[in-house]
Amino acid sequence: MNRTLENKVVLITGSGSGMGRSHAVLMAERGARVVVHDIDSDRVAETADLVRAAGFPPHAIRVDMRDTDALAEAIAETERSYGPVDVLVNNAGIGGQGLAFGDIDVETFDAMFEVHVRGTFFATRAVIPGMKARRAGKIVNIGSNFAMGGCHFASHYAAAKSAISGLTKSWAREFAPFNITVNAVAPGLLETDLTLGSIGRDRIRAMAAEVPLGRIADPVEISYSVAWLASAETDFMTGQVISPNGGVSIVGI
Ligand SMILES: NC(=O)c1ccc[n+]([C@@H]2O[C@H](COP(=O)([O-])OP(=O)(O)OC[C@H]3O[C@@H](n4cnc5c(N)ncnc54)[C@H](O)[C@@H]3O)[C@@H](O)[C@H]2O)c1
Repeated sequence: MNRTLENKVVLITGSGSGMGRSHAVLMAERGARVVVHDIDSDRVAETADLVRAAGFPPHAIRVDMRDTDALAEAIAETERSYGPVDVLVNNAGIGGQGLAFGDIDVETFDAMFEVHVRGTFFATRAVIPGMKARRAGKIVNIGSNFAMGGCHFASHYAAAKSAISGLTKSWAREFAPFNITVNAVAPGLLETDLTLGSIGRDRIRAMAAEVPLGRIADPVEISYSVAWLASAETDFMTGQVISPNGGVSIVGI
């Protein structure tokens, strides 16, 4: 059995559903002590039950990513009561709602950057001092394939995910002297609440037909990459954005 995350405390933001839930269960199966987080308490409880069934009893926190003070306090409390965070997966996110450029108003634009960019930034700021002191830690950010190829129906989403790539590469450089690695997983399209609520099943199916491998991913196929970047198998990898996307974007050096 794969136990590459034995006893690691792994905090996954937005793990109440979709890919975050899948990451939580897979990482629990691999021995991690999982901190489940979401804005929605029912979703937190459901994922916590699945994690409990898969491995070590989880810690659960319900906080809005946009409330940076509450987020920092919840993470500090987690570290006091459950243990220092070894791995942070910045996964919480919202969809682009299939909006054309002219339909993206200030409120929509700001919400996108608050959840993805500000949320990722300040969740990371809450764990970095401890990681620096221990000279160990892993940050796994969740980007998107749209950051590489652009997106004609959600440019604010693609821009926020491009910022995630910038943070990943910058933090990789800044935290390398402290033995902290920072990488990102940039998935292609999946069918989750986020995409069903944004573009709907028909458009997802149409886009799936364009994927060279002929299908969209199952969430666990993304979780395998996240778990790998959280493990010691990638101790020498930092600043990388890897994209499990079925061949939608194939980029050479
Ligand atoms: N589904 C896709 O096709 C796709 C592709 C590439 C990247 N992504 C990214 O993957 C991540 C997970 O998305 P998903 O598709 O599993 O969607 P999802 O909607 O199933 O999961 C996102 C979770 O984040 C939580 N969340 C949203 N706003 C929050 C907030 N303010 N505070 C706390 N939690 C909040 C939601 O409650 C939800 O449980 C996101 O960052 C998304 O942008 C998704």
